[in-house]
Amino acid sequence: MSDLTELAAQESDDERLVESLDRSRLPRHVAIIMDGNGRWARKRRLPRVAGHRAGVEAVRDTVETSARLGLEVLTLYAFSQENWKRPRTEVAILMELLKEYVRRELDTLLKNNIRFQVIGRMSDLADPVRKELTRGLEATAGCTGLLFNIALSYGGRAEIVDACRELLREGTPPEEVDETTFASRLYTAGLPDPDLLIRTSGEMRVSNFLLWQIAYAEIWVTPTLWPDFRKRDLVLAILDYQRRERRYGGLSHEKPSAALVRG
Ligand code: FPP
Repeated sequence: MSDLTELAAQESDDERLVESLDRSRLPRHVAIIMDGNGRWARKRRLPRVAGHRAGVEAVRDTVETSARLGLEVLTLYAFSQENWKRPRTEVAILMELLKEYVRRELDTLLKNNIRFQVIGRMSDLADPVRKELTRGLEATAGCTGLLFNIALSYGGRAEIVDACRELLREGTPPEEVDETTFASRLYTAGLPDPDLLIRTSGEMRVSNFLLWQIAYAEIWVTPTLWPDFRKRDLVLAILDYQRRERRYGGLSHEKPSAALVRG
């Protein structure tokens, strides 16, 4: 088969998979731990940054597929607080890729009615990066389709600490602090919690990502390295999610009041 024939066959295969999704039971919020860029590069004897560069293609594809499927929120873990410990050159290139992404993709985001938002300690980022991101946030603020959340200088524990600080600063009386007030001080205030958490490259860890919000998320781990992740993988994850019974600690989805056991 020629490359083009193969590509067309792959595309119609992917479309068949998309059609087999139950559109009435899509996850509202999908969160992804993008992992394996370095390994992808190493397998090809390329520098690590080549893996990050290739990872941007996977980001584009995933954002576009999520918007097409009609997901409400997509959150991508792009840079953790721990990632500051990486070599300076790698950090600099990741920041460059982010700026480049916003610059290049802004028109596509706007055309597809996608709102762009950052979660994390944005104040840690250098001025030029913050400026480019802010341009993206402001330009897409009126978009009403997919919310594309990008986690930058993000740490789940830091987010919980920031929420506590906020409540204390406001002088909220302890008896007024419950799960709802607490969640409203998190970076994700107002958003549904992730229904589905995806991690690429096979690692079985949550890596300090959305610790509060993933309390009841369904977890799907794939051996696929992030730069190879495409529409097909996202759809397979959602199909698997749709086969699961979500119990929220109860005995069945339909009878939450019968909850006698946890987990
Ligand atoms: C994990 O792979 C990936 C990251 C720490 C960075 C993710 C960044 C991108 C995909 C590119 C920029 C993002 C956007 C949104 C434009 P790793 O380096 O930890 O891989 P390894 O575990 O194989 O070494």
